[in-house]
Amino acid sequence: MIERYGHGGDLETAAEAYGRKETDFLDFSANINPLGPPKQVQDHLEQALSSIIRYPDPGHRQFKHILSRKLGVSEDNICVGNGAAECMSLILLGLYPQSVGIIEPCFSEYRQLSEQFDIEVRSVRGREELDWRGAAEDISELIQQVDMVFIGQPNNPNGVQYSLEELRMLAEKAEQSNTYLVVDEAFIDFIPEEQQASLLRELENYPGTILVRSMTKFYAIPGLRLGFTVAHPDVIRFMTGKQVTWSVNGLALLAGEAALACDGEFEQQTMKLITEQRQALVQGLSALGCEVSAGEANFLLVKLPESWRAIDMQRELGQRGILIRSCAMYPGLGERHVRIAVKDAKANQVFLAEIERVLQNENRE
Ligand SMILES: Cc1ncc(COP(=O)(O)O)c(C=O)c1O
Repeated sequence: MIERYGHGGDLETAAEAYGRKETDFLDFSANINPLGPPKQVQDHLEQALSSIIRYPDPGHRQFKHILSRKLGVSEDNICVGNGAAECMSLILLGLYPQSVGIIEPCFSEYRQLSEQFDIEVRSVRGREELDWRGAAEDISELIQQVDMVFIGQPNNPNGVQYSLEELRMLAEKAEQSNTYLVVDEAFIDFIPEEQQASLLRELENYPGTILVRSMTKFYAIPGLRLGFTVAHPDVIRFMTGKQVTWSVNGLALLAGEAALACDGEFEQQTMKLITEQRQALVQGLSALGCEVSAGEANFLLVKLPESWRAIDMQRELGQRGILIRSCAMYPGLGERHVRIAVKDAKANQVFLAEIERVLQNENRE
């Protein structure tokens, strides 16, 4: 198993496990835009390298300014973080809930961060017939039992969204119960705007609802780290009050500014690529006897054919230089579940050819 730290994208562990160089893998275990960072971002970073001699702006003012205009919200509604992950930790530190609710399977950091801060975690299980979404009644009940609930929109690892009506109902319920609703929209940029279900435009109706977004996936800068939260100004103040000064580094801020300045072309290219290639992967994997969940994001939850365990498939593919994310450890999922990132046509074809070879190889142990 290569999820030593609980996540995909761990090339160092993979290199140790499979005796290859880190650069020698096609990585389907982390869900990063296959186009890589926009050219404008790369150019800007090259020019900006000499700026590392300066401290970054602790107020993240320029990035926040551009972001507020792009999102159509006030700067007082934004907290910039060292990745969405830091935003989540600041939400927990700033609001200090005694109990947190999660809907499993979900991103492991909701639980891990809560437990790191000694916060009690309660969970409900997503239902297979709802493509692993939580049932509205189960989430409503959870909201009444805890101080804060995390929801993935779209959720990792299954890639599905809740509808806007469901989100409104849950946000309303959260207001009535004095519970914070944290909606993790780290992957929402990969969904065409008209299909995104987000409460971004309605946040003034729900002061207890907090949106978390990431710049690391869509703009392909996970190594730089950049994310943000959109929420009521009081929530933002509590969060920034707990933030380590300069936790967001200068190059990340500059990359973020350049990314937001890109015209729509990068976004359109990404959307086209992901939509077409997700379809190609669904078809290819289904033809090989895999069950593929109905995800809308840039990754797919896949149940391997009956005789296959995720851990065996991960090893077989890893030895061939392809990394996939085992999902066997996600509560609620089984030992046959894996998650596959949607990459470009060339990489996806290599992946499909290799997994076909592995599935046809009857001599495995
Ligand atoms: C659902 C989800 N939210 C948030 C994050 C963290 O994003 P970031 O890289 O911005 O910290 C991840 C990373 O994998 C994720 O899967």
